[in-house]
Amino acid sequence: MSAKLLVVYHSQSGSTSKMAAEVIAGARDPEVDVEVRACDALTATADDLLWCDGFILGTPENFGYMSGGLKLFLDRVFYDCVDKIDGKAYALFVRAGNDGRGAIDSVQRILKGLNVREVQAPLLFAGEFDETRLPECRELGLTLAAGLEAGIF
Ligand SMILES: Cc1cc2nc3c(=O)[nH]c(=O)nc-3n(C[C@H](O)[C@H](O)[C@H](O)COP(=O)(O)O)c2cc1C
Repeated sequence: MSAKLLVVYHSQSGSTSKMAAEVIAGARDPEVDVEVRACDALTATADDLLWCDGFILGTPENFGYMSGGLKLFLDRVFYDCVDKIDGKAYALFVRAGNDGRGAIDSVQRILKGLNVREVQAPLLFAGEFDETRLPECRELGLTLAAGLEAGIF
């Protein structure tokens, strides 16, 4: 049976969506046999998180924190998932106007409570949106997918 990778992201004005599209494309690399489910944070559910073997979260930084959309997702799923997803692999990508550390810290703090494992350093795009860095997003998706397929994560 194929490993399962979930991508959950939120974007208000579209730049985190651009990153997400590349992450998802990397995860769906035809060379890798992994089932990929991509969800908007506003509609993703606890069942999605319980279904996957590993996951990738994406958010902009808003007011020094993750976006309200991603926070709402984590609020909604926390009690249904706590103690049930221990040790699952995850990675994070963040889009920020100029900083990003608050978004990263806030996600990491909550995910520590869910006892999941961060297997890649967070990918941060801060400042003017740099399209030339989009291959890093593709690489992130591919790395998680390949790691799950190989049983490394
Ligand atoms: C309400 C609001 C609050 C923001 N707060 C921050 C912030 O605290 N730090 C930062 O670096 N950028 C901040 N930004 C900039 C966003 O992170 C940036 O515009 C990002 O590209 C938005 O992502 P999106 O296009 O996926 O919605 C803020 C933007 C908005 C609209």
